[in-house]
Amino acid sequence: MSALALARSRAFASKAAQFKNLRFYTGPTIEYEHLTSGWTNVKDLEEFKRQDGKYSLQTFNKISPQGLATYPKELFDVEAYDDAKGRPAHALMLRSHKIQEEEVATSVRCIARCGAGTNNIPVARMTELGIPVFNTPGANANAVKELVLCGLFLGSRRVIDGINHMKDLGEQGVARERVEKDKAMFGGREIKGKTLAVIGLGHIGSATARDGASLGMKTVGYDPGLSVSSALSLPKTMTLVDSISSAVANADYISLNIPYIKGEGGTHGIIGEAVIRHFKPDAVILNFARGELVDSEAMKEFLDAGDGRYISDFPDDLCWDHKNAVIMPHLGASTEEAEDQAACMAAETIQRYLEDGTIRHSVNFPDTDLAVRQKDFVRVTVVNKNIPGMLSKITEVFAKHSVNIVQQVNHSKGDVAYNVIDLDPAGGDSIDLKDLQKEVTMLEGVLSSRILFSNPGVGYARNIDGEYHV
Ligand SMILES: NC(=O)c1ccc[n+]([C@@H]2O[C@H](COP(=O)([O-])OP(=O)(O)OC[C@H]3O[C@@H](n4cnc5c(N)ncnc54)[C@H](O)[C@@H]3O)[C@@H](O)[C@H]2O)c1
Repeated sequence: MSALALARSRAFASKAAQFKNLRFYTGPTIEYEHLTSGWTNVKDLEEFKRQDGKYSLQTFNKISPQGLATYPKELFDVEAYDDAKGRPAHALMLRSHKIQEEEVATSVRCIARCGAGTNNIPVARMTELGIPVFNTPGANANAVKELVLCGLFLGSRRVIDGINHMKDLGEQGVARERVEKDKAMFGGREIKGKTLAVIGLGHIGSATARDGASLGMKTVGYDPGLSVSSALSLPKTMTLVDSISSAVANADYISLNIPYIKGEGGTHGIIGEAVIRHFKPDAVILNFARGELVDSEAMKEFLDAGDGRYISDFPDDLCWDHKNAVIMPHLGASTEEAEDQAACMAAETIQRYLEDGTIRHSVNFPDTDLAVRQKDFVRVTVVNKNIPGMLSKITEVFAKHSVNIVQQVNHSKGDVAYNVIDLDPAGGDSIDLKDLQKEVTMLEGVLSSRILFSNPGVGYARNIDGEYHV
């Protein structure tokens, strides 16, 4: 187990201990609904009840065991969706499986994809159902960055041509006699002191810039949407410019690390004639982002005209066999570590959401960073449509039930708003949250609510087309 995985596993073990501490909760009795009326789609309620006290996590695809190992056994039952035989899950985890709505039971609180894209999940529909979809941005950044560095070296020295030549000589049985004479054909240059332009300074671009600088390169960057966290991680000596053309103008190496976006204002063919005309004749272009970012015709003209190189991780119909191109079969993220990292990140995101209500790395829900819930506090989360007037309606229900709100958070993103309300039950004899939860959940515009307290996995209610499901 890596140091990172070990640290995470310890952190989760300490979380598990916190749940155990709930036995020592000394406040008033707290009542809330739990499976009393039964989920409409629970096929085997008794079987599900047996799991009381644990979250049920179901997986599609083969997920890295290192990621699954971060789920504390005392808190989570982890099983493959197919093995669960219809038993409802609290959360789903997948890689490439194209998930159908029927596979998302009424009990599911969230879905996490181990990977960046979420095309295999009907995100818009999940948003309507009030279910956050998580991904793992940057989990494969190190893997891709290492291959970009490999591209830097391959673009500097004719290593591949030299290796192929040695095979030919070997076949002819003349390698020893020819090697010293022929090596002159495969000369190259060093990268130290050269200029590296990085287009797109996100997870991969910023890491590439850092490592480029530590190899002694001068670095220039362009990113109109530079995030604060990326900006803080850039090399101190990096020059930031305000256009792709300025970035590439004096660059010996150009690394593309931007997303491919179709349509008007997108990035299709963004590296076309208008940009390429600013390249130095011997520039090396490293494309580990997407093939469609580069206009193949313009690139082929550039390669034909000078001593420039094109190193890419994607098929290219015109440049694939060019003597100055090295084309790889989309190997960027293909490492065990990238899969482990994605699974660990997805698992952590699910656990934080289920245990504390925190939302991180969601493609459809607002970022909501919450402190670990104080053990004597009850945390209520409410997901509603992002329409005017909802916040006051929700708050009114709490006021009507005379509960003491100690902290309240309201964030929104697109069509969804997320409310988190911490209650302090101290001072009363008992609190009946059963009616409160039903009332809040059945407000028009509310999609679901959760009560985070005591046993993991209980206290989830949904408003499905005006019907109350608990
Ligand atoms: N080769 C592979 O296997 C592989 C694996 C993962 C990702 N990728 C590709 O790498 C890209 C970057 O990944 P990441 O994790 O660093 O993404 P990221 O979202 O962390 O960073 C992308 C950065 O590009 C910037 N950007 C967007 N449009 C731009 C433009 N027109 N000009 C300059 N900057 C622009 C954004 O502001 C952002 O900072 C992905 O979009 C993906 O296409 C490839």
